[in-house]
Amino acid sequence: MMTRYARCAMVLVAVLSSCGRVDEARETETKIELGGTMSFEDVAARRRSVREFSDKRLNENELLKILFAAQGITDPGSGHRSVPSAGATYPLEVYVVSPDSVLHYDPSSNSMKKVVQGDMRADLAEAALGQSVVRSAPASVVITGFATRTTQRYGERGHRYVYMEAGHAAQNVLLQAVSLGLVGVPIGAFDDREVESILGCGPGEKALYILPVGHPVK
Ligand SMILES: Cc1cc2nc3c(=O)[nH]c(=O)nc-3n(C[C@H](O)[C@H](O)[C@H](O)COP(=O)(O)O)c2cc1C
Repeated sequence: MMTRYARCAMVLVAVLSSCGRVDEARETETKIELGGTMSFEDVAARRRSVREFSDKRLNENELLKILFAAQGITDPGSGHRSVPSAGATYPLEVYVVSPDSVLHYDPSSNSMKKVVQGDMRADLAEAALGQSVVRSAPASVVITGFATRTTQRYGERGHRYVYMEAGHAAQNVLLQAVSLGLVGVPIGAFDDREVESILGCGPGEKALYILPVGHPVK
């Protein structure tokens, strides 16, 4: 099926063919259809907070790419990841709330492990003050953090670093979504304890960010 972006590119081909720039436009169209090859400028320009999705689910490949963008290990030798971390203390954990289950991302194996069976999206939406985008999203990435991993090295200032890192991870999620032809929105309004209870967070693990993502409405 042709994506909205591919359709836009085809319109662009028609317009530019009359002014001698058709080859360049064809190249853009091909890149968009292949997916994941948009320039950074295109991805950044297309990112917008979108709160409606089609019913189509995300496949495992899409989910893993998004999770890798959030916290994937990019240098197995050092263990360094796709986002910077104060002193490489890596306080963040990443989950996905899907229509079937809640999954936890394991960076070391780049895989997801089921931690809760069942559709928790309505509960997550309630925890997010009833925001319907959380109920309808085929996947909500949830970022949590263990502040002590960072505060034991940096003291009180470590708390600030954890929030900064959640922002880095969240932006990667939103931009990776765009590069995959998906859309999303950052959600900061939620009851921390309720979200932590849905995910089954242990002591010291705090909910930081919810990022519903999905396919755009055609
Ligand atoms: C920290 C933070 C918290 C946010 N929380 C919410 C939220 O709870 N619900 C929501 O619909 N949008 C939320 N947003 C999205 C903003 O409303 C949105 O980014 C802003 O209107 C700018 O639009 P844009 O993202 O399309 O550029 C949040 C954004 C940030 C950065």
